[in-house]
Amino acid sequence: MAVRQILRIGDPRLREVSKPVEDFGTRELDALIKDMFDTMAAADGAGLAAPQIGVQLRIMIFGIESNPRYPDAEAVPTTVLINPEFTVRDDSIVSGWEGCLSVPGMRGYVPRYRAVTYSGYDQEGKPVAREAEGFHAVVFQHEYDHLDGVLYPDRIVERDKFGFEEELMAAAMQAEERASA
Ligand code: NI
Repeated sequence: MAVRQILRIGDPRLREVSKPVEDFGTRELDALIKDMFDTMAAADGAGLAAPQIGVQLRIMIFGIESNPRYPDAEAVPTTVLINPEFTVRDDSIVSGWEGCLSVPGMRGYVPRYRAVTYSGYDQEGKPVAREAEGFHAVVFQHEYDHLDGVLYPDRIVERDKFGFEEELMAAAMQAEERASA
């Protein structure tokens, strides 16, 4: 068990396209995924992709029971997904606030597809396939982007909806006060 260092935006390794995993059921793969879960838990994250700890492989993990960072978010099953693929099941666009362990302290308003069907493999090479919508679909799309070197700020359309969480909160509270005044 080991908590690994999470790379932050600006590190060029976060911008690479990761390679598919070729060998399943190995001790190395098992150890890597354990480290990813330890790292995600220590950082109180909802998901993590291997490139975020400097490993350029197409591996993501995610899962939420209840997370103080996402108090209103529905639960997402704990998932290991290797060499993922997806199809868009509902291409209506839903925007929501996202954060990323590689962009600490910040939040952005990001458009995503409402529903996707994803597939891939677990660490033993067993196929995984699921239909996801809502927050589950958002988490998947966010982690999938990491495997292609894409970070959520790249997808922000409304430029005033990106910034440090503290500043955004302060601005929201001011707007609320103005509205109720
Ligand atoms: Ni992220």
